[in-house]
Amino acid sequence: MAGMIPEDIINDVRTSVDIADVVGRYVQLRKAGKNLFGVCPFHDEKTPSFSVSESKQIFHCFSCGRGGNVFKFLMDLENLSFPDAVRRVAEFSNIPLDQSYFKTAKKSSYSSEQSALIDLYEKASELFSHILLNTKLGEDALKYLKDRGMTEADIKDFDIGFAAPEDNLLLSFFKEHKIDQRLMADSGLFIESENQTLRDRFFNRIIFPIKDANGKIVAFSGRSLVKDPNHPKYLNSPETSIFNKGKVLYNFSQARSEIIQQKTVILYEGFMDVIAAHRASVKNGIATMGTSLTEDHINAIKRVADRVVICFDGDAPGQKAIARAIELLRQSSDLQISVVFIPDNLDPDEYVEQKGIESFQSLMHQTGESSTSFLLKYDRTGLNLANENDQLEYLKKALKRIGSLRDALEQDLYLNQLSDEFDIDKRDLKDQLRESVADRIAHAPNQFELNEQTPPPPVPGEEQQVFNQNIQKKLSQVDISEYRLLARALNNHDVWLKLQSLPNFYFPTEKLETIYVLASGYLEKNHEYNVADFMDYLKEDELQAVVADIESINLSPEFTEEEIQDYLSVIENVAPLSEQISDVKSDLDEATRLGNKELQQQLTLKLIALYQKQQQLQQ
Ligand code: GTP
Ligand code: MN
Repeated sequence: MAGMIPEDIINDVRTSVDIADVVGRYVQLRKAGKNLFGVCPFHDEKTPSFSVSESKQIFHCFSCGRGGNVFKFLMDLENLSFPDAVRRVAEFSNIPLDQSYFKTAKKSSYSSEQSALIDLYEKASELFSHILLNTKLGEDALKYLKDRGMTEADIKDFDIGFAAPEDNLLLSFFKEHKIDQRLMADSGLFIESENQTLRDRFFNRIIFPIKDANGKIVAFSGRSLVKDPNHPKYLNSPETSIFNKGKVLYNFSQARSEIIQQKTVILYEGFMDVIAAHRASVKNGIATMGTSLTEDHINAIKRVADRVVICFDGDAPGQKAIARAIELLRQSSDLQISVVFIPDNLDPDEYVEQKGIESFQSLMHQTGESSTSFLLKYDRTGLNLANENDQLEYLKKALKRIGSLRDALEQDLYLNQLSDEFDIDKRDLKDQLRESVADRIAHAPNQFELNEQTPPPPVPGEEQQVFNQNIQKKLSQVDISEYRLLARALNNHDVWLKLQSLPNFYFPTEKLETIYVLASGYLEKNHEYNVADFMDYLKEDELQAVVADIESINLSPEFTEEEIQDYLSVIENVAPLSEQISDVKSDLDEATRLGNKELQQQLTLKLIALYQKQQQLQQ
C-alpha cells in the first residue's frame, strides 16, 4: 500500500506550476478576456468551450462540464491516479518526491489485457531494435537504412528495429520468456495456422513501432527490405482493440509539443518522410498509416494546431491524395490548409537525401500554396486548356471551388485571376458563380448549409455570460440562484458568514449542499478559500466539476445585499415544497404498505399537484 502524499507536499507541487503551462502542452490555448480558451480535449467539438483560469488555477469545459485543478486535468487526460498526477506535475517542476508514495500499480486507460499487449509490444520492440543495432542478423538492414540517410539517432528516436529473416525468432524469444500463448495470438505479431500453431508475421522487414497519442506502442509496421511484387512494401500488424488505423497518427506523441508551439502540423504520406524531416530538425510532422484522413485524425489535429501543411509526394497519386486531404480537412475543421510542393517528383524523404537538410528546411519554411490555389491547379489535370470544351469544363469546376469559399475577399481574388487568365469579364464570372451556388443549394440543401453557412465559431469572452450558455438551458431559476449564491459564499467571507448565520438554510440541490458542507470543514482548517486547493480537498470528480462550474460564473466583483436576498428568496420558495413532496412520498409508501387504496389515490393526486407546482416554479 502506498503511503499517502502529505497535504503540504501536494500543495507545494500544485502551486509550483501554472495550470496554463501544463494544459498548454496538450491543448492550444488562446487568451480571451481574463481566461484562456481552447478546444476541449475530452470530447469532440468545433467551437472552443474549454477554459483555463490562471487566477484560479482551474480548468472547466462549458460543454462537457468537466473541471478541476491541474491534477484533475492530468488524471482525466492521461488516466492517471491522483498520486501519479502529483508525480507528473512534480516532474514538470523538478520537485523530488519520495518514491514510497507510488507503490500501487499504475492506473491507465487500458484494460489489463490491453496493457499486457502493450507490454508485449514493448518487449518485441526491444528485440527488434537489438537485432538491428547489435547483431549480425541486422547488418544488412542497418546498412540499408544508413544508405538511405538514416542516422543512429533517427533509429533510436523512432525505435526502429529489424525482424530477422530467420523464421520465428520472435516466437522463440517469447516462448523463452514464457509469454502466454493466447496473448501472443491476440497480439497480431504472429500468424496462427488452423492447428493453432503460431509463426512470426514479420520477417526480413524493417520494423517501425506505431505508438498511440501517449507514446505507447500499439502496433508495428514492417517495410520489406527487398522489392518483391508478391509482398507488400509495408506490412502492418492487424487492428486490435488498441490499434485502429483510422485513429492513429504516426509520430503524434513525439511531435505534439512542437506542433503546439508552432500551432502547425505537417502531414506527410509516409513514415520515412516523417523521419527524414525530423532528421532535418522539422519535428512537427506526422503521417497516417498510408490511409486517407478520417474525422478522428482531424479531431486529434485540431486540438493542437491551427494550421496543416500538406507535404505529399510530387507525383500524380500524391496530388490526388492532397486534393482528397484538403476536402476532408475542410469538411471537418476550420484549420488553415496549405500545400508545400516537393519538386522533381521526389517524396520528402528522397528530397532530404538528395538535396540536403538545408534545402529541405528552406522548402518547409515557405508559406506554401493556399489550398484553393492548389485545387484550382489540380482541376486542370488532364485538361487541355487550349481546347474550348476543356476550358469550359475547367471554368465550371473552378467556379464551383470558388463558390464554396466562405471568405468574400478570397472569392474575389480568385475570380480576378480567372478573369485575367481567360479574358472573361469578371461580372460574367460573378453571375455564373451565383448560378452555380444556387444550383447547388437546390440540389444539396443540407450539405450546402453545413459546409458553407456554418457561422464562424464565436470566441467566448469575458463579457459573455458563459455560465448562461450552459446553465440557463438546462437549469431552472432556482438552480441558477443556488449556483450563484454558493459562488458568492465561497468567494466572499461576508456572504459565507451570512449563510452560516441562517438557522434553517440549506441548498436544495444535493451536490451544492454537499459542497457547502465540505466547504465549512475546509474553511475551518484553512481559513482562506483557494479553489485549486479546495478541489483536492473535495476529491470526488463530480464535485470538482461542479465547483469548476460555479467558479466559471461571471459575477460582478461587488455584490449587493439585495442580490443575496434575491437568491435566498428564490431558493427558499422551493425548499418547503420539496419537503412537502418528500413528506407526501413517505406517506404514500406507508399507505402502500398498509394497502390503503383510497389513501394511496389521494396521496398520488396530491403528489402530482406538488410536482406541477414545483415545475411551474422552476421555469
Ligand atoms: P519508402 O519507399 O520506404 O521511402 O516509403 P514511402 O514512405 O516513400 O512509401 P510510400 O510513399 O510508397 O507510401 C507511403 C505510406 O503508405 C507508407 O509509409 C505506408 O504507411 C503506406 N504504404 C505504402 N505501401 C504500402 C503497402 O504495401 N501496404 C500498406 N499497408 N501500406 C503501405
Ligand atoms: Mn520514400
